[in-house]
Amino acid sequence: MIDIHQHLIYGVDDGAKDLEESLAMAYEAANEGITHIVCTPHASDRYPYKTELIETRLAELRERLDGVVGLSLACDFHLSADNIFAALANPLRYSIDGRGYLLVEFPNVSIAPQYADALFRLQSAGYTVIVTHPERYPAVQVNPQLIADWLRTGCLIQITACALYGRMGPAAEALANELLDRNWVHFLATDAHRMKWRPPHLRKAYEYVSARAGEETAQRLCVTNPLAAVEGAPWPGQPVPLGLENHKPFAFDVRRYPRKSPRTQLPEDEYQGWPDPPRSGLRGLWDRLFAR
Ligand SMILES: [Fe+2]
Repeated sequence: MIDIHQHLIYGVDDGAKDLEESLAMAYEAANEGITHIVCTPHASDRYPYKTELIETRLAELRERLDGVVGLSLACDFHLSADNIFAALANPLRYSIDGRGYLLVEFPNVSIAPQYADALFRLQSAGYTVIVTHPERYPAVQVNPQLIADWLRTGCLIQITACALYGRMGPAAEALANELLDRNWVHFLATDAHRMKWRPPHLRKAYEYVSARAGEETAQRLCVTNPLAAVEGAPWPGQPVPLGLENHKPFAFDVRRYPRKSPRTQLPEDEYQGWPDPPRSGLRGLWDRLFAR
């Protein structure tokens, strides 16, 4: 299996704390049957993407691991104004090994309509956008048709592996499963941060998908599609996304679930959520993009 979303590189964000933890996570992933990890440090206002430091530590990890798992470099790309401009100015810089597949994270609470145009700009610059863990965003849980909009514009969808079996709360679990049933999911990934905070476990989710949707689907989400993203290969054929063209309403209804899903595995003293971009900043982005 290939894990396209993992905060393996130590000391650059809220992922692994030190070299020992990075190595422990890599070995844990290998024990799970993961042969290749895409390292995805955050690129956000809180955790700026320090390319030089990240590349140094990636090289160190490659040397220390000596082939236990393969490593690629990408980032957990937050849609801030500065990031978008940096990505447009340095085509493919933030994508997986510079080959075009870009993992995009939205603000945690609200998703402004203007972000659709930001995605379009990134796609026009050559990026293939992978929307990370939509099942976890409160704004998407309220309006899951946002995912349909992303699919229609050519975005790919990555869900958190452990969300499928409830580790991200009941709402995320229900939505992730409905997305899976609709063929609206392209990748499972761990989004692992620490050994004790969302560890790099993928096997259970693989088996879950295999039992629910068949072995071919599990292979596609954990092997075939991730391999294409790592290699920058043309996108493989996918099953028809059910309910997309006919705008079938979701069975999922967030009102059936507690408003605040429990954040299992997230220590409260460490998780503070991702702040929304300031409104003025968003307007600034808009003004700059369209020179108005
Ligand atoms: Fe992440």
